[in-house]
Amino acid sequence: MMVSCRSFLWQVVALTIFLVSGPLSSASTPHSPPFRRIYAFGDSYTDTGNTQSATGPTGFNYVSSPPYGSTFFHHPTNRYSDGRLVIDFVAEALSLPYLPPYRNHTADVSKGVNFAVAGSTAIPHDFFVRNNLTFDITPESLQTQLQWFNKALESQGCRGNLTKSKCREILDDSLIWVGEIGANDYAYTVGSSVSAKTIQNLAIESFTGFLQAMLEKGAKYIVVQGLPQTGCLPLAMVLAPDTDRDRTGCVGSVSRQSYAHNLAIQAKIQGFGIKFPHAVIVYADYWNAYHTIMINASKYGFKERFKTCCGSGEGAYNFNLFAACGSATSTTCQNPAQYVNWDGVHLTEGMYKVVSDMFLRGKFCHPPFDYLLSRKLRSG
Ligand SMILES: *[C@@H]1O[C@H](CO)[C@@H](O)[C@H](O)[C@H]1NC(C)=O
Ligand SMILES: *[C@@H]1O[C@H](CO)[C@@H](O)[C@H](O)[C@H]1NC(C)=O
Ligand SMILES: *[C@@H]1O[C@H](CO)[C@@H](O)[C@H](O)[C@H]1NC(C)=O
Ligand SMILES: *[C@@H]1O[C@H](CO)[C@@H](O)[C@H](O)[C@H]1NC(C)=O
Repeated sequence: MMVSCRSFLWQVVALTIFLVSGPLSSASTPHSPPFRRIYAFGDSYTDTGNTQSATGPTGFNYVSSPPYGSTFFHHPTNRYSDGRLVIDFVAEALSLPYLPPYRNHTADVSKGVNFAVAGSTAIPHDFFVRNNLTFDITPESLQTQLQWFNKALESQGCRGNLTKSKCREILDDSLIWVGEIGANDYAYTVGSSVSAKTIQNLAIESFTGFLQAMLEKGAKYIVVQGLPQTGCLPLAMVLAPDTDRDRTGCVGSVSRQSYAHNLAIQAKIQGFGIKFPHAVIVYADYWNAYHTIMINASKYGFKERFKTCCGSGEGAYNFNLFAACGSATSTTCQNPAQYVNWDGVHLTEGMYKVVSDMFLRGKFCHPPFDYLLSRKLRSG
Protein backbone atom coordinates (compact mmCIF):
# COMPACT_ATOMS: atom_id res chain seq x y z
CA MET A 1 0.00 0.00 0.00
CA MET A 2 2.69 2.43 1.01
CA VAL A 3 4.71 1.52 -2.06
CA SER A 4 1.88 2.15 -4.48
CA CYS A 5 0.98 5.45 -2.81
CA ARG A 6 4.56 6.53 -2.94
CA SER A 7 4.82 5.74 -6.61
CA PHE A 8 1.52 7.49 -7.18
CA LEU A 9 2.78 10.65 -5.56
CA TRP A 10 6.00 10.33 -7.47
CA GLN A 11 4.05 10.11 -10.69
CA VAL A 12 2.01 13.19 -9.84
CA VAL A 13 5.09 15.12 -8.84
CA ALA A 14 6.96 13.97 -11.92
CA LEU A 15 4.15 15.35 -14.04
CA THR A 16 4.43 18.58 -12.14
CA ILE A 17 8.09 18.83 -12.84
CA PHE A 18 8.27 17.76 -16.43
CA LEU A 19 5.03 18.96 -17.97
CA VAL A 20 5.37 22.57 -17.02
CA SER A 21 3.94 23.82 -20.28
CA GLY A 22 0.29 23.73 -19.23
CA PRO A 23 -2.02 23.52 -16.24
CA LEU A 24 -1.43 20.20 -14.60
CA SER A 25 -5.00 19.74 -13.62
CA SER A 26 -5.57 18.78 -17.23
CA ALA A 27 -2.64 16.38 -17.37
CA SER A 28 -4.09 12.95 -17.79
CA THR A 29 -3.26 10.61 -14.97
CA PRO A 30 -4.69 7.12 -14.75
CA HIS A 31 -5.72 7.78 -11.13
CA SER A 32 -8.35 10.23 -10.06
CA PRO A 33 -7.04 13.00 -7.81
CA PRO A 34 -6.73 11.91 -4.16
CA PHE A 35 -8.76 14.93 -2.98
CA ARG A 36 -11.80 16.50 -4.57
CA ARG A 37 -10.93 19.93 -3.21
CA ILE A 38 -8.55 22.06 -1.16
CA TYR A 39 -9.43 24.73 1.37
CA ALA A 40 -6.54 27.08 2.05
CA PHE A 41 -5.95 29.67 4.77
CA GLY A 42 -3.15 32.11 5.53
CA ASP A 43 -1.64 35.47 4.60
CA SER A 44 0.11 36.94 1.55
CA TYR A 45 2.25 33.80 1.17
CA THR A 46 -0.94 31.90 0.28
CA ASP A 47 -3.40 34.57 -0.96
CA THR A 48 -4.29 33.99 -4.63
CA GLY A 49 -6.36 37.15 -5.05
CA ASN A 50 -8.49 37.99 -2.02
CA THR A 51 -6.48 41.18 -1.60
CA GLN A 52 -5.88 43.95 -4.09
CA SER A 53 -3.49 46.87 -4.02
CA ALA A 54 -5.55 49.32 -2.03
CA THR A 55 -6.44 46.90 0.76
CA GLY A 56 -3.17 44.99 1.10
CA PRO A 57 -0.34 45.27 3.60
CA THR A 58 1.28 48.68 3.97
CA GLY A 59 4.32 49.10 1.75
CA PHE A 60 3.30 46.48 -0.84
CA ASN A 61 0.81 48.53 -2.77
CA TYR A 62 1.54 47.43 -6.31
CA VAL A 63 0.44 43.81 -6.28
CA SER A 64 -2.17 44.52 -8.95
CA SER A 65 0.45 45.86 -11.37
CA PRO A 66 3.45 44.46 -13.24
CA PRO A 67 6.00 43.08 -12.54
CA TYR A 68 3.84 41.07 -10.10
CA GLY A 69 2.72 37.96 -11.96
CA SER A 70 5.28 38.34 -14.76
CA THR A 71 6.83 34.88 -14.58
CA PHE A 72 4.13 32.29 -15.11
CA PHE A 73 0.75 33.95 -15.49
CA HIS A 74 2.27 36.84 -17.51
CA HIS A 75 -0.11 39.32 -15.89
CA PRO A 76 -0.78 40.42 -12.31
CA THR A 77 -3.09 38.01 -10.45
CA ASN A 78 -2.89 39.74 -7.06
CA ARG A 79 -0.44 37.08 -5.92
CA TYR A 80 2.45 38.61 -3.97
CA SER A 81 5.13 37.07 -6.17
CA ASP A 82 6.38 36.98 -9.73
CA GLY A 83 4.50 33.70 -10.24
CA ARG A 84 3.05 30.70 -8.47
CA LEU A 85 2.91 30.21 -4.70
CA VAL A 86 3.36 27.05 -2.63
CA ILE A 87 -0.43 26.51 -2.68
CA ASP A 88 -0.39 26.61 -6.50
CA PHE A 89 2.25 23.87 -6.61
CA VAL A 90 0.20 21.87 -4.10
CA ALA A 91 -2.86 22.15 -6.36
CA GLU A 92 -0.78 21.06 -9.36
CA ALA A 93 0.64 18.07 -7.50
CA LEU A 94 -2.88 16.96 -6.57
CA SER A 95 -4.18 17.46 -10.13
CA LEU A 96 -6.56 20.19 -9.02
CA PRO A 97 -7.03 23.66 -10.50
CA TYR A 98 -5.47 26.73 -8.88
CA LEU A 99 -7.66 27.79 -5.98
CA PRO A 100 -9.97 30.70 -6.65
CA PRO A 101 -10.04 33.42 -3.99
CA TYR A 102 -13.11 33.33 -1.76
CA ARG A 103 -13.95 36.90 -2.70
CA ASN A 104 -14.46 36.03 -6.36
CA HIS A 105 -18.13 35.17 -6.18
CA THR A 106 -18.33 34.03 -9.78
CA ALA A 107 -15.50 31.50 -9.59
CA ASP A 108 -16.09 27.75 -9.60
CA VAL A 109 -15.61 26.66 -6.00
CA SER A 110 -16.34 22.97 -6.48
CA LYS A 111 -12.62 22.04 -6.37
CA GLY A 112 -11.72 24.30 -3.49
CA VAL A 113 -11.50 27.83 -2.21
CA ASN A 114 -8.68 30.00 -0.94
CA PHE A 115 -9.54 32.03 2.17
CA ALA A 116 -6.03 33.46 2.68
CA VAL A 117 -5.78 37.24 2.90
CA ALA A 118 -2.59 39.25 2.51
CA GLY A 119 -1.73 41.17 5.66
CA SER A 120 -4.01 39.11 7.85
CA THR A 121 -3.08 38.12 11.35
CA ALA A 122 -3.63 35.16 13.63
CA ILE A 123 -4.82 37.51 16.40
CA PRO A 124 -8.17 39.27 15.78
CA HIS A 125 -7.79 42.72 14.25
CA ASP A 126 -9.35 44.65 17.15
CA PHE A 127 -6.33 43.79 19.30
CA PHE A 128 -4.17 45.86 16.94
CA VAL A 129 -6.73 48.65 16.85
CA ARG A 130 -6.92 48.79 20.64
CA ASN A 131 -3.14 49.04 20.84
CA ASN A 132 -2.92 51.73 18.17
CA LEU A 133 -0.83 49.48 15.96
CA THR A 134 -1.71 51.24 12.76
CA PHE A 135 0.55 49.15 10.57
CA ASP A 136 -2.26 46.59 10.61
CA ILE A 137 -4.76 47.88 8.10
CA THR A 138 -6.14 44.45 7.22
CA PRO A 139 -9.36 43.78 9.13
CA GLU A 140 -9.39 40.07 8.24
CA SER A 141 -7.75 37.64 10.65
CA LEU A 142 -7.71 33.87 10.90
CA GLN A 143 -11.12 34.13 12.61
CA THR A 144 -12.53 35.90 9.56
CA GLN A 145 -11.22 33.12 7.38
CA LEU A 146 -12.87 30.54 9.61
CA GLN A 147 -16.19 32.39 9.31
CA TRP A 148 -15.83 32.44 5.53
CA PHE A 149 -15.07 28.74 5.57
CA ASN A 150 -18.17 28.03 7.66
CA LYS A 151 -20.27 30.04 5.23
CA ALA A 152 -18.83 28.17 2.27
CA LEU A 153 -19.67 24.84 3.91
CA GLU A 154 -23.15 26.01 4.90
CA SER A 155 -23.87 26.86 1.29
CA GLN A 156 -23.14 23.21 0.52
CA GLY A 157 -25.50 21.95 3.20
CA CYS A 158 -23.04 21.44 6.08
CA ARG A 159 -24.43 23.45 8.98
CA GLY A 160 -23.03 21.82 12.06
CA ASN A 161 -20.25 19.55 13.17
CA LEU A 162 -18.86 16.25 12.03
CA THR A 163 -21.90 14.48 13.39
CA LYS A 164 -23.76 15.87 10.40
CA SER A 165 -23.31 13.54 7.46
CA LYS A 166 -23.12 16.35 4.91
CA CYS A 167 -20.13 17.92 6.68
CA ARG A 168 -18.47 14.55 6.87
CA GLU A 169 -19.09 13.90 3.20
CA ILE A 170 -17.44 17.20 2.23
CA LEU A 171 -14.52 17.11 4.63
CA ASP A 172 -13.67 13.44 3.98
CA ASP A 173 -12.65 14.55 0.50
CA SER A 174 -10.99 17.84 1.37
CA LEU A 175 -7.41 18.80 2.04
CA ILE A 176 -7.13 21.67 4.53
CA TRP A 177 -3.97 23.69 3.88
CA VAL A 178 -3.08 26.24 6.56
CA GLY A 179 -0.39 28.45 5.07
CA GLU A 180 1.81 30.87 6.94
CA ILE A 181 -0.14 32.82 9.55
CA GLY A 182 1.24 34.85 12.47
CA ALA A 183 4.22 36.51 10.81
CA ASN A 184 2.25 39.74 10.39
CA ASP A 185 1.31 39.75 14.06
CA TYR A 186 4.99 40.08 14.97
CA ALA A 187 5.75 42.50 12.11
CA TYR A 188 3.00 44.93 13.13
CA THR A 189 4.22 45.13 16.71
CA VAL A 190 7.93 45.76 16.03
CA GLY A 191 8.99 48.76 18.09
CA SER A 192 5.75 48.85 20.10
CA SER A 193 5.21 48.25 23.80
CA VAL A 194 3.59 44.87 23.07
CA SER A 195 6.13 42.13 23.69
CA ALA A 196 6.88 39.32 21.26
CA LYS A 197 5.95 36.85 23.99
CA THR A 198 2.48 38.39 24.26
CA ILE A 199 2.09 38.16 20.50
CA GLN A 200 3.20 34.55 20.55
CA ASN A 201 0.74 33.60 23.29
CA LEU A 202 -2.20 35.35 21.66
CA ALA A 203 -1.34 34.07 18.17
CA ILE A 204 -1.04 30.49 19.38
CA GLU A 205 -4.29 30.80 21.31
CA SER A 206 -6.04 32.02 18.18
CA PHE A 207 -4.48 29.35 16.00
CA THR A 208 -5.49 26.68 18.53
CA GLY A 209 -9.12 27.83 18.49
CA PHE A 210 -9.07 27.73 14.70
CA LEU A 211 -7.66 24.20 14.55
CA GLN A 212 -10.07 22.95 17.21
CA ALA A 213 -13.03 24.36 15.25
CA MET A 214 -11.78 22.72 12.04
CA LEU A 215 -11.39 19.36 13.72
CA GLU A 216 -14.78 19.55 15.44
CA LYS A 217 -16.33 20.28 12.11
CA GLY A 218 -14.79 17.08 10.84
CA ALA A 219 -11.62 18.10 8.98
CA LYS A 220 -9.57 14.95 8.48
CA TYR A 221 -6.58 15.91 6.37
CA ILE A 222 -4.78 19.02 7.51
CA VAL A 223 -1.39 20.49 6.66
CA VAL A 224 -0.11 23.31 8.87
CA GLN A 225 2.81 25.38 7.63
CA GLY A 226 5.10 26.84 10.25
CA LEU A 227 6.70 30.25 9.89
CA PRO A 228 9.77 30.56 7.65
CA GLN A 229 13.11 31.79 8.96
CA THR A 230 11.74 35.33 9.01
CA GLY A 231 15.06 36.88 10.03
CA CYS A 232 16.32 36.30 6.48
CA LEU A 233 13.76 38.58 4.84
CA PRO A 234 15.22 41.89 3.58
CA LEU A 235 12.59 43.79 5.59
CA ALA A 236 13.99 42.25 8.80
CA MET A 237 17.59 42.75 7.63
CA VAL A 238 17.21 46.50 7.05
CA LEU A 239 15.37 47.09 10.33
CA ALA A 240 17.78 45.24 12.63
CA PRO A 241 21.25 46.43 13.64
CA ASP A 242 24.16 44.71 11.85
CA THR A 243 25.19 43.10 15.11
CA ASP A 244 21.95 41.11 15.32
CA ARG A 245 22.91 38.24 13.01
CA ASP A 246 22.97 34.47 13.27
CA ARG A 247 25.27 31.99 11.54
CA THR A 248 23.09 32.05 8.41
CA GLY A 249 23.72 35.79 8.20
CA CYS A 250 20.07 36.45 9.04
CA VAL A 251 18.62 38.51 11.89
CA GLY A 252 19.09 36.26 14.90
CA SER A 253 16.44 37.71 17.20
CA VAL A 254 13.75 37.55 14.51
CA SER A 255 14.63 34.03 13.40
CA ARG A 256 14.56 32.84 17.00
CA GLN A 257 11.11 34.37 17.39
CA SER A 258 9.66 32.42 14.46
CA TYR A 259 11.46 29.29 15.63
CA ALA A 260 9.90 29.57 19.09
CA HIS A 261 6.50 30.25 17.55
CA ASN A 262 6.83 27.06 15.51
CA LEU A 263 7.74 24.98 18.56
CA ALA A 264 4.55 26.13 20.25
CA ILE A 265 2.51 25.30 17.13
CA GLN A 266 4.02 21.83 16.95
CA ALA A 267 3.19 21.14 20.60
CA LYS A 268 -0.44 22.07 19.91
CA ILE A 269 -0.56 19.87 16.82
CA GLN A 270 0.74 16.94 18.82
CA GLY A 271 -1.98 17.46 21.41
CA PHE A 272 -4.68 17.58 18.75
CA GLY A 273 -3.33 14.40 17.17
CA ILE A 274 -4.10 12.56 20.40
CA LYS A 275 -7.52 14.20 20.85
CA PHE A 276 -8.61 13.66 17.23
CA PRO A 277 -7.05 10.36 16.16
CA HIS A 278 -9.30 10.10 13.08
CA ALA A 279 -7.53 13.13 11.61
CA VAL A 280 -4.07 13.40 10.04
CA ILE A 281 -2.36 16.66 10.93
CA VAL A 282 0.89 17.27 9.11
CA TYR A 283 3.38 19.93 10.16
CA ALA A 284 5.16 21.53 7.19
CA ASP A 285 8.48 22.77 8.52
CA TYR A 286 8.97 26.00 6.58
CA TRP A 287 11.66 27.26 8.93
CA ASN A 288 14.03 24.36 8.35
CA ALA A 289 13.22 24.17 4.64
CA TYR A 290 14.12 27.84 4.30
CA HIS A 291 17.21 27.44 6.44
CA THR A 292 18.40 24.45 4.42
CA ILE A 293 18.14 26.51 1.26
CA MET A 294 19.90 29.52 2.81
CA ILE A 295 22.94 27.53 3.90
CA ASN A 296 23.35 25.91 0.48
CA ALA A 297 21.57 28.25 -1.90
CA SER A 298 23.53 27.41 -5.04
CA LYS A 299 22.57 23.76 -4.73
CA TYR A 300 18.98 24.89 -5.29
CA GLY A 301 19.85 27.20 -8.17
CA PHE A 302 19.90 30.50 -6.25
CA LYS A 303 22.55 33.17 -6.74
CA GLU A 304 21.01 35.82 -4.47
CA ARG A 305 19.86 34.92 -0.98
CA PHE A 306 19.17 38.39 0.41
CA LYS A 307 18.88 40.84 -2.45
CA THR A 308 15.35 41.39 -3.72
CA CYS A 309 14.68 40.73 -7.37
CA CYS A 310 12.24 43.62 -7.47
CA GLY A 311 12.90 46.74 -5.43
CA SER A 312 14.74 50.01 -5.09
CA GLY A 313 18.02 51.21 -3.68
CA GLU A 314 20.53 48.60 -4.86
CA GLY A 315 22.94 47.84 -2.01
CA ALA A 316 22.98 44.44 -0.35
CA TYR A 317 19.18 44.16 -0.27
CA ASN A 318 17.83 46.38 -3.04
CA PHE A 319 14.98 47.12 -0.68
CA ASN A 320 13.23 50.27 0.46
CA LEU A 321 9.86 49.86 2.15
CA PHE A 322 8.81 53.30 0.91
CA ALA A 323 9.77 52.54 -2.69
CA ALA A 324 8.95 48.86 -2.91
CA CYS A 325 8.48 46.60 -5.91
CA GLY A 326 6.24 48.19 -8.54
CA SER A 327 6.89 51.79 -7.47
CA ALA A 328 8.34 54.29 -9.94
CA THR A 329 11.95 53.79 -8.87
CA SER A 330 11.94 50.01 -8.58
CA THR A 331 13.76 47.74 -10.98
CA THR A 332 13.27 44.04 -11.65
CA CYS A 333 15.99 41.45 -12.11
CA GLN A 334 16.37 39.51 -15.35
CA ASN A 335 16.14 36.09 -13.81
CA PRO A 336 13.84 35.87 -10.77
CA ALA A 337 14.42 32.12 -10.45
CA GLN A 338 17.96 32.89 -9.25
CA TYR A 339 16.62 34.98 -6.35
CA VAL A 340 15.16 33.69 -3.11
CA ASN A 341 13.37 36.93 -2.43
CA TRP A 342 10.97 38.76 -4.69
CA ASP A 343 10.05 42.10 -3.09
CA GLY A 344 11.60 42.25 0.37
CA VAL A 345 8.99 40.18 2.21
CA HIS A 346 7.56 37.75 -0.34
CA LEU A 347 9.43 35.03 -2.19
CA THR A 348 9.96 34.25 -5.85
CA GLU A 349 8.13 31.52 -7.67
CA GLY A 350 11.49 29.75 -7.88
CA MET A 351 11.74 29.70 -4.08
CA TYR A 352 8.11 28.65 -3.61
CA LYS A 353 8.69 25.78 -6.01
CA VAL A 354 11.74 24.50 -4.15
CA VAL A 355 9.92 24.80 -0.81
CA SER A 356 6.83 23.00 -2.11
CA ASP A 357 8.99 20.16 -3.42
CA MET A 358 10.62 19.92 0.01
CA PHE A 359 7.16 19.67 1.58
CA LEU A 360 5.56 17.27 -0.89
CA ARG A 361 8.50 15.03 -1.79
CA GLY A 362 11.23 15.88 0.68
CA LYS A 363 11.80 15.49 4.38
CA PHE A 364 10.15 18.66 5.60
CA CYS A 365 6.64 17.42 6.40
CA HIS A 366 6.03 15.57 9.67
CA PRO A 367 4.61 13.01 9.13
CA PRO A 368 5.54 12.96 5.41
CA PHE A 369 2.98 14.24 2.93
CA ASP A 370 2.74 10.83 1.28
CA TYR A 371 1.68 9.37 4.63
CA LEU A 372 -1.29 11.75 4.54
CA LEU A 373 -2.00 10.65 0.96
CA SER A 374 -1.79 6.99 1.90
CA ARG A 375 -4.26 7.52 4.76
CA LYS A 376 -6.61 9.20 2.32
CA LEU A 377 -6.31 6.46 -0.28
CA ARG A 378 -6.78 3.75 2.34
CA SER A 379 -10.01 5.36 3.51
CA GLY A 380 -11.34 5.13 -0.05
C1 LIG B 1 -13.39 35.43 -11.03
O1 LIG B 1 -13.45 34.14 -11.59
C2 LIG B 1 -13.87 34.10 -12.93
C3 LIG B 1 -14.04 32.64 -13.31
O2 LIG B 1 -12.85 31.92 -13.11
C4 LIG B 1 -12.88 34.84 -13.78
O3 LIG B 1 -13.28 34.82 -15.14
C5 LIG B 1 -12.77 36.27 -13.30
O4 LIG B 1 -11.77 36.95 -14.02
C6 LIG B 1 -12.46 36.31 -11.83
N1 LIG B 1 -12.56 37.67 -11.34
C7 LIG B 1 -11.53 38.31 -10.78
C8 LIG B 1 -11.81 39.69 -10.30
O5 LIG B 1 -10.44 37.80 -10.64
C1 LIG C 1 -4.22 54.79 21.72
O1 LIG C 1 -4.39 56.13 21.33
C2 LIG C 1 -5.38 56.82 22.09
C3 LIG C 1 -5.59 58.20 21.48
O2 LIG C 1 -4.35 58.80 21.21
C4 LIG C 1 -4.96 56.87 23.55
O3 LIG C 1 -5.94 57.51 24.32
C5 LIG C 1 -4.77 55.44 24.07
O4 LIG C 1 -4.29 55.45 25.38
C6 LIG C 1 -3.81 54.66 23.16
N1 LIG C 1 -3.78 53.26 23.59
C7 LIG C 1 -2.66 52.59 23.79
C8 LIG C 1 -2.81 51.16 24.22
O5 LIG C 1 -1.55 53.07 23.61
C1 LIG D 1 -19.70 21.83 17.45
O1 LIG D 1 -19.18 21.11 18.55
C2 LIG D 1 -18.71 21.92 19.61
C3 LIG D 1 -18.12 21.02 20.72
O2 LIG D 1 -18.11 19.69 20.35
C4 LIG D 1 -19.84 22.77 20.17
O3 LIG D 1 -19.34 23.61 21.16
C5 LIG D 1 -20.43 23.62 19.03
O4 LIG D 1 -21.54 24.31 19.51
C6 LIG D 1 -20.85 22.69 17.87
N1 LIG D 1 -21.30 23.56 16.78
C7 LIG D 1 -22.43 23.33 16.11
C8 LIG D 1 -22.77 24.35 15.06
O5 LIG D 1 -23.15 22.38 16.32
C1 LIG E 1 25.48 21.58 -0.07
O1 LIG E 1 25.18 20.83 -1.24
C2 LIG E 1 26.24 20.02 -1.69
C3 LIG E 1 25.85 19.43 -3.04
O2 LIG E 1 24.69 18.65 -2.91
C4 LIG E 1 26.52 18.98 -0.62
O3 LIG E 1 27.62 18.17 -1.03
C5 LIG E 1 26.87 19.67 0.69
O4 LIG E 1 27.01 18.72 1.71
C6 LIG E 1 25.77 20.64 1.09
N1 LIG E 1 26.19 21.41 2.25
C7 LIG E 1 25.42 21.58 3.32
C8 LIG E 1 25.97 22.46 4.40
O5 LIG E 1 24.31 21.06 3.42
